[in-house]
Amino acid sequence: MTENQANNHEFLTDIQERLNGNNIIAIASGKGGVGKTTLAVTLAHAFSKQGLKVLLFDGDLGLSNIDIHLGITPNENLETVIKMNDPLNLAITHESTLQCDIITGHSGDQSLSNLNGPQLKLLADDLLILSSYYDKVIIDLGSGIYENLIHLANCAKTCLVLITNTPTSLTDAYQFIRLLINQDPAKNIKLIMNMVDTLAEGEQTYQTFLTALEAFLHVKPQLGGIIHYDSTVKKSLQEQTSLLSFNLNTPASQDILKISQSLINHEIIHP
Ligand SMILES: Nc1ncnc2c1ncn2[C@@H]1O[C@H](COP(=O)(O)OP(=O)(O)OP(=O)(O)O)[C@@H](O)[C@H]1O
Ligand SMILES: [Mg+2]
Repeated sequence: MTENQANNHEFLTDIQERLNGNNIIAIASGKGGVGKTTLAVTLAHAFSKQGLKVLLFDGDLGLSNIDIHLGITPNENLETVIKMNDPLNLAITHESTLQCDIITGHSGDQSLSNLNGPQLKLLADDLLILSSYYDKVIIDLGSGIYENLIHLANCAKTCLVLITNTPTSLTDAYQFIRLLINQDPAKNIKLIMNMVDTLAEGEQTYQTFLTALEAFLHVKPQLGGIIHYDSTVKKSLQEQTSLLSFNLNTPASQDILKISQSLINHEIIHP
């Protein structure tokens, strides 16, 4: 094989992998309000700061709120392209703070959560094609455990499941994982412990949850990272800006930067 052919082969393999969703990361939790959108926005910013071309997709189809987190009102959004039957790329807006492309929903528009099967398949297929233009695509999923959400999660090769150290978060995450692996047993699931007081608390929660997953679902997801409880997160949300722009050196910023690096380098985090 000549050097040119080898380069072409590498290029085509890369495109094929992207069309399989290998560069797509879905962020889920089952339970609401555990920090999905905060992680999605901050992770997108962390990737773009490291020179990657990123698309942040608001997959919270009923109550999208990435626009609220960032204090923006894009002219185009998911709602308009779906209503007009336009291609998904027309919903892309470049976000100058995060330095990445975003597709937002329309806050409060419940019609998006009622997309029927063919509409959702079309959306998922369009997203997979779009993903080939990016290094990383992040899907911020909604809370709850319904079919459309699992379908959207299935576009992604990697699913980060966010958990807090509360019984309701753990049981909802368990149910979400049960449904996800039912559809795709090979899904690369990583568990992220959020709002912990100490690393030891995060590691302990991970181990306890892992024991249940191994015993009842026969899966052993890796630890994807631990994020400290950090009052700066709420302040950055009140300012409607990215956590990394608000304060790069605060514990949650540093934790999410570490998670982004481990995802880029495919590192395994040992508890
Ligand atoms: N590490 C953290 N430390 C402190 N507060 C946090 C942390 N992560 C998230 N929060 C706070 O938790 C609340 C919920 O966060 P966020 O909106 O990101 O959750 P969500 O899972 O996307 O919610 P929903 O299910 O409603 O979409 C916000 O007030 C946010 O500031
Ligand atoms: Mg959210």
